Amino acid sequence: MSATEENNAVPQYELKRALGPLQLMGLGIGIIIGAGIFVSTGTTAANFAGPSVVISYLIAGFGCALAGLCYAEFSSMIPVAGSAYSYTFATFGKFLAWLIGWDLILEYLAAGSAVAVGWSGYFNGMMADFGINLPVHLSTSPVVWNVDQTFGLSGAVMNLPAFFLILFLTALLVIGIRASATFNGIMVLLKLAVVMLVIGFGLQYVTMENLTPFIPENTGTFGEFGWSGIVRASGVVFFAYIGFDCVSAAAQEAKDPQRNMPIGILGSLALCTVLYVLMCIVMTGVTPYTNLGVSKPVTVAVQAMGPQLNWLVPLVNFGATLGLATVVLGLLLGQSRIFYAMSRDGMLPQLFSKVHPTFRTPYLSTILIGIVAALLSAFLPENLLIELVAIGTLAAFVLVCLSVIILRKTHPNVPRPFRTPWVPIVPIGGMLVCFGMMAGLPLDTWIRFVVWGLLGLVVYFFYARKHARTPSYALKRD
Ligand code: ALA
Repeated sequence: MSATEENNAVPQYELKRALGPLQLMGLGIGIIIGAGIFVSTGTTAANFAGPSVVISYLIAGFGCALAGLCYAEFSSMIPVAGSAYSYTFATFGKFLAWLIGWDLILEYLAAGSAVAVGWSGYFNGMMADFGINLPVHLSTSPVVWNVDQTFGLSGAVMNLPAFFLILFLTALLVIGIRASATFNGIMVLLKLAVVMLVIGFGLQYVTMENLTPFIPENTGTFGEFGWSGIVRASGVVFFAYIGFDCVSAAAQEAKDPQRNMPIGILGSLALCTVLYVLMCIVMTGVTPYTNLGVSKPVTVAVQAMGPQLNWLVPLVNFGATLGLATVVLGLLLGQSRIFYAMSRDGMLPQLFSKVHPTFRTPYLSTILIGIVAALLSAFLPENLLIELVAIGTLAAFVLVCLSVIILRKTHPNVPRPFRTPWVPIVPIGGMLVCFGMMAGLPLDTWIRFVVWGLLGLVVYFFYARKHARTPSYALKRD
């Protein structure tokens, strides 16, 4: 999170241009490296792609790079809080803005909950390192979502650590405590250190036996190994890159945005892609991928390297516990800002843009989001949440890419401190890759996404359409 964002509640029109390329990269990496690499790499390798999950990471990283360049143009044109929701309202009006805003609500809610569930796995591991074993029935999800898309019950009651983490972070956000640039920097270094230690020590234990066959044969079902498994896995591991949009959203705070935004976006994506690829090779290379379908696969991989590396296990558990908690904090903050922006524009009841008199934060929206996210994380499994986030975010990216092309025609003269290069090739490429990843996700996830969208339409026609006001930052046609 940026140090220049002083207030949660008030949209900023004139932000100081203080962020250089390194700060922009730090901003992105702070949210990017999280449950994706620490949890879903393992489950995705075990269930969909085996060692070829590496290819899935490359596809997802490429799609994000293209979409990120489009995001940056948008955010530099319309410097207000509320991310893609506000950009769409400013340019296309309330209906599309509502659709994107509603979509982003799903994204951030489910993402915060998913990372909290991932956090809980490593937190349990860290507590076990201290000799405290939390009862499984109180620290895991009662619902299981199987690879064949059937639901089951695990016998657990609820995931209490994930539930309390979100409530605790919500309380911090209400009183206005946020990760400062320094704290964010320390977290970034800690996460990078853990990932690099695992890679550095792990590479020497990689065996060709574990990496063969590199692309396991398809089971006969679409998405279970083979090339369709790689495509399905790319839709899931895409989650691991979410957060780079925070870099794009800082376009109005960047020094020399035309030069620094691509460095910030592409730099953080490139660094994460390299680390993710190496991490995949290490994890699937030190143990058969079938062992990785667990709640803390990085720990399992380190344990498989042999007892001489036992000292690394508590470090991984500790680093992941702290690192993932800051990702949840960032996601909850992002969510409350979008909710705030939608309420400010009349799309949601005014209640939600009420600012606390002492803390100066949009406390009611923060509390509502916190409670819903805490309940999701207490009862739902991570794999279900991650796919919901992925489909919602990919849909928003497709629309952002499309918007860049349309706006170049409809608003050619609006100043763009950052311009996406090679329009329309980059946005069209972004749309194709992102849509391809959406297409690889299973029918059930699509159905949930469509149901969420239909629910959104009901709210729109009964509430938002009547109450929405054109915001002051709306662009006039050239
Ligand atoms: N990219 C973030 C994560 O993997 C959301 O946790």
